[in-house]
Amino acid sequence: MDRIISTELMEEDHIMELSLRPQLLSEYIGQEKAKRNLKIFIEAAKLRGEALDHVLLYGPPGLGKTTLAGIIANEMDTHLKITSGPAIEKPGDIAAILNGLQDGDILFIDEIHRLNRQVEEVLYPAMEDYAIDIMIGKGPSAKSIRLNLPHFTLVGATTRAGMLTAPLRDRFGVVNRLEFYTDKELTVIVERSADLLNVPIDQEGAEEIGRRSRGTPRLANRLLKRVRDFAQVRSDGTITAQVARQALDLLEVDSLGLDATDRNILSTMAGKFDNKPVGLETLAASIGEDAGTIEDVIEPFLLQRGLIQRTPRGRVITRKACEHLGLDLQVYLDGGEQ
Ligand SMILES: Nc1ncnc2c1ncn2[C@@H]1O[C@H](COP(=O)(O)OP(=O)(O)OP(=O)(O)O)[C@@H](O)[C@H]1O
Ligand SMILES: [Mg+2]
Repeated sequence: MDRIISTELMEEDHIMELSLRPQLLSEYIGQEKAKRNLKIFIEAAKLRGEALDHVLLYGPPGLGKTTLAGIIANEMDTHLKITSGPAIEKPGDIAAILNGLQDGDILFIDEIHRLNRQVEEVLYPAMEDYAIDIMIGKGPSAKSIRLNLPHFTLVGATTRAGMLTAPLRDRFGVVNRLEFYTDKELTVIVERSADLLNVPIDQEGAEEIGRRSRGTPRLANRLLKRVRDFAQVRSDGTITAQVARQALDLLEVDSLGLDATDRNILSTMAGKFDNKPVGLETLAASIGEDAGTIEDVIEPFLLQRGLIQRTPRGRVITRKACEHLGLDLQVYLDGGEQ
């Protein structure tokens, strides 16, 4: 199902993301911890004239992992080579990519948790010793020779850090978890994007869009675009709080940024399961969503906003969620808050 608030990349985002994507750390809003961390490592690497240590970025879709990889390359003043886990099929593919790099280059591997085993094994010595071992010949006369590689930096991104193997994870010197953005940070992002797109917007209009963007810049930009269209057709083109509210209501994005799917999950948990702890698979089956999508995309935000809670026996919805949905607290919280 296509959700307006899906945080995953959609066709319509492509062109816009290119023009709105921050190029330097100073333009990258929020994620203060990750920025502080990276700034130090980047400066130190530059001072020593060495390649930056390998960087792992993880967190839900649309929070700025790819953007940050580009920024790292810009700040280090080097080339960026982009590929992704599923695109690298054979050990020979990764060997060729690595061999084509130059000293200091950044190799960005998106969805790095989807690398296959043999490819991953080529990466271990590459990351650790800047070398790969190549087998020459076959059978008993086969021998392995070591090929030195340029001193590169691997930047890996994943929405599922839990699916990374330990040996791979351990080879990253810098590990950054990206967090959901605050409403305030999203407001600034909306203002910045509106400015770049030449869309007139007032402070309250930006706040309204920021608040309903599920803590996610990609969504903030997409909602801004939709609200802009609405403002042009239904009013004088300026995005005010009222215009934003009307447009977002029409898109069924509510005041907390939840859409029909989120609300469906919450009310299913409350109703069908009497808010008794429910497992991921059961929940997925009963609302007809993919379990992986619930776990990676939908649930992290609901957890972060305190709308659901994980217990050892499963997930339950919270008082805040009941209040938001207008459900009777007594009836629904009996299952979860014992
Ligand atoms: N800190 C930020 N400040 C301003 N804009 C941002 C920031 N982070 C992300 N964006 C905007 O959000 C868009 C999506 O970010 P990006 O593509 O980097 O997300 P991602 O984490 O790589 O997502 P995915 O997991 O789907 O690959 C960018 O094009 C950019 O315009
Ligand atoms: Mg990305």
